[in-house]
Amino acid sequence: MCGIVAYTGNRDAYPVILKGLKRLEYRGYDSAGVALVNHGLKTFKKRGKVGALEESLLGKDLQAVAGIGHTRWATHGEPSDRNAHPHRSSNGKLAMVHNGIIENYSLLKQDLLKKGYAFESDTDTEVLLKFIEDIHVSHEVSLEEAVRIALKRVVGAYVIVLLNEDDPETLIAARKGSPLVIGIGKGEHFLASDASPIIEYTKEVVYINDYEVAIVRPDELILKNLGNERVTPHITQLDMELAAIEKGGFDHFMLKEIFDQPQSIFDCLRGRLDANMGSIRMGGVDKHLDQLVNAKRILIIACGTSWHAGLVAEYVFEELCRIPVEVEYASEFRYRNPVINEGDVIIAISQSGETADTLVAIERAKENKAFIFGVVNVVGSSISRQSHAGAYTHAGPEIGVASTKAFTAQLVVLNMIALKIAYTKRTIDQHRYLHLINELNEIPDKVALILQDTDHIKILADKYKDARDFLYLGRGYNFPIALEGALKLKEISYIHAEGYPAAEMKHGPIALVEESLPVVFVATKDMYHDKILSNAQEIKARKGKVIAVISEGDSQFQEVADDVMMVPLSDELVAPLLSVIPLQLLAYFIGVSKGLDVDKPRNLAKSVTVE
Ligand code: AGP
Ligand code: GLU
Repeated sequence: MCGIVAYTGNRDAYPVILKGLKRLEYRGYDSAGVALVNHGLKTFKKRGKVGALEESLLGKDLQAVAGIGHTRWATHGEPSDRNAHPHRSSNGKLAMVHNGIIENYSLLKQDLLKKGYAFESDTDTEVLLKFIEDIHVSHEVSLEEAVRIALKRVVGAYVIVLLNEDDPETLIAARKGSPLVIGIGKGEHFLASDASPIIEYTKEVVYINDYEVAIVRPDELILKNLGNERVTPHITQLDMELAAIEKGGFDHFMLKEIFDQPQSIFDCLRGRLDANMGSIRMGGVDKHLDQLVNAKRILIIACGTSWHAGLVAEYVFEELCRIPVEVEYASEFRYRNPVINEGDVIIAISQSGETADTLVAIERAKENKAFIFGVVNVVGSSISRQSHAGAYTHAGPEIGVASTKAFTAQLVVLNMIALKIAYTKRTIDQHRYLHLINELNEIPDKVALILQDTDHIKILADKYKDARDFLYLGRGYNFPIALEGALKLKEISYIHAEGYPAAEMKHGPIALVEESLPVVFVATKDMYHDKILSNAQEIKARKGKVIAVISEGDSQFQEVADDVMMVPLSDELVAPLLSVIPLQLLAYFIGVSKGLDVDKPRNLAKSVTVE
């Protein structure tokens, strides 16, 4: 995810672009840059937020008839000045910004290196730009045609916008899998990743579709498909207010990010899991597979929601890979005197990659010569840089303090790592390996199904929002989801909630059960089903209220529970990716029904960079 703004028309381009980038900073903020054209092409870019770029440009001559701007969310090449967009062609005449991931960039790069091209950055974007340049120059075709030829050979997702010194007022844009909106003005056009930079200038917009190329001049917008056939632009009227646009039309970033999950899980699988080929390719894992396969023990270190992901991973790794796993709170690990042996592998899980406890814990582990594998969302973050290897979760920026899409992306990455290890170790057979690959591949669609109907969860939220305490119970792979559901509720609604293994009730917590206590069972169909059904009956027998997350068609549990939230059937190993979704929504709707700031809950920070 990133923010793109571009302009061509009768205004000065830079102020329009700068203001627009600030509106898009929620989409990515690790570096920013602009390219401006006016008697020559100038490019300015800088690590950090848009404000840092603005500061660095004070006093410069930035007059321009057209320009492109970018605020980055890195996927390839850590945040830095040189990896910031816009990138420049070898001949210096072209500048380009890009949102998305070019999956086959390394093959393209190898060909270009053989042709003598040099690269200033580590990004996939620069490769795409020089691929377009090479076609433009060596095939002697127009830039527009070169873009079409190149994009037919690109695998991945993109929005690109190009600026050409030799044709200063013309912008060339294209999209596949990432968003692009074009604002129609009088003698001017605005391009942006969403409508928030556009709405103050015009409400007339065109949403570009996949595989379309736009040639944009101050008073002309031409749309074509990759076959060079004209496409009629469909002009619509913007009907959202600015604030709503930034949240994609949702009331809060948290809800937007919950609904992002079909896409963010797809993005996490993209270029890695291939269900048709029955394969999983992960660069950071493949390079260190021996170390992972021969691990004597796996230590998972994390905090909060990421720790819950680690707990799910413990069950998955031990089941599939037969490697002993221990899950440690980073805040505890860093202070005690842990035993770390040669051959131990440490998996550090962190959305932000900046959590102080986790960062120090892995530094301690490195002092003991442990191998650190990072599962991190923010590219180039401290924990990713401190790790010997890793896999990014590619969930995109997560703005809501309560972690949702980053959590499910963590589970996907951890499942893929476990599958790769288990298949290499032959601790699972080919049939189970392919079965679980297919199960993971189906998750985005199953999550989308859950998100199709959330009204009943809103009703549940209103029904139970005044409860003083909640219990969340689960078994097996769903036990960590009970903990995660309880944490979501606590941090969003300030209601006390505890997660427990369902069978643990009889060792004390069942004394809490009374009519006013809602007990949430995470009880999707698995080997524990009958046992957890009995646990629910025990609660009912003591007048407790039973709310259950169950698999579609589970009529037995439906009879026992007071209220249910259903998810599609799945293999128990991937069920957490589904059972967590209703719990995220329940916490969100309860928080909203209590009138709380669900994106910025009291006392909490998105990244706990202090002890
Ligand atoms: C989860 O909703 C919380 N925001 C918090 O527990 C968070 O998971 C924890 O602080 C760890 O953050 P990290 O994943 O960025 O390391
Ligand atoms: N993949 C490109 C990069 O890492 C673009 C990332 C983005 O969408 O910001 O630079």
